[in-house]
Amino acid sequence: METGQVKHYRADGFRFEPPRKNIYWLVCDMVEKPARVAELMEAWAINGWFKEAIFNLKLPMKSRYKEVSTILETMNTILTENEIDFKMQCKHLYHDRDEVTVHLWLFPEKGVSYA
Ligand SMILES: C[S@@+](CC[C@H](N)C(=O)[O-])C[C@H]1O[C@@H](n2cnc3c(N)ncnc32)[C@H](O)[C@@H]1O
Repeated sequence: METGQVKHYRADGFRFEPPRKNIYWLVCDMVEKPARVAELMEAWAINGWFKEAIFNLKLPMKSRYKEVSTILETMNTILTENEIDFKMQCKHLYHDRDEVTVHLWLFPEKGVSYA
């Protein structure tokens, strides 16, 4: 905050529309149902409001793998239907406990792959 490069908006993340749409990184770590977070990411992607996103999906109590798989498959379908070229990876990081971390890259540069 001290750098002056951060602007804080007190707003509901599910209703917030960025005033400027040339966002490169979207970072989302809201405690919410994973399907709702995924829908928000899909909406931002369809609106073309970011280039790359890192977001967490909080794991449900039961059927964790099944639910996350279903959410990511749905996201895959929706982005594809909207003719969005993308790369997506999902990891259960060492320090993540009850969540997985997703990296979504829209219209990735050709020839660049993940390490
Ligand atoms: C897991 S914490 C995020 C911590 C943050 N990544 C950090 O390192 O400080 C979840 C945060 O999401 C916020 N949050 C939850 N629902 C929200 C919403 N609808 N709009 C905005 N913020 C929300 C909560 O207030 C809380 O601060």
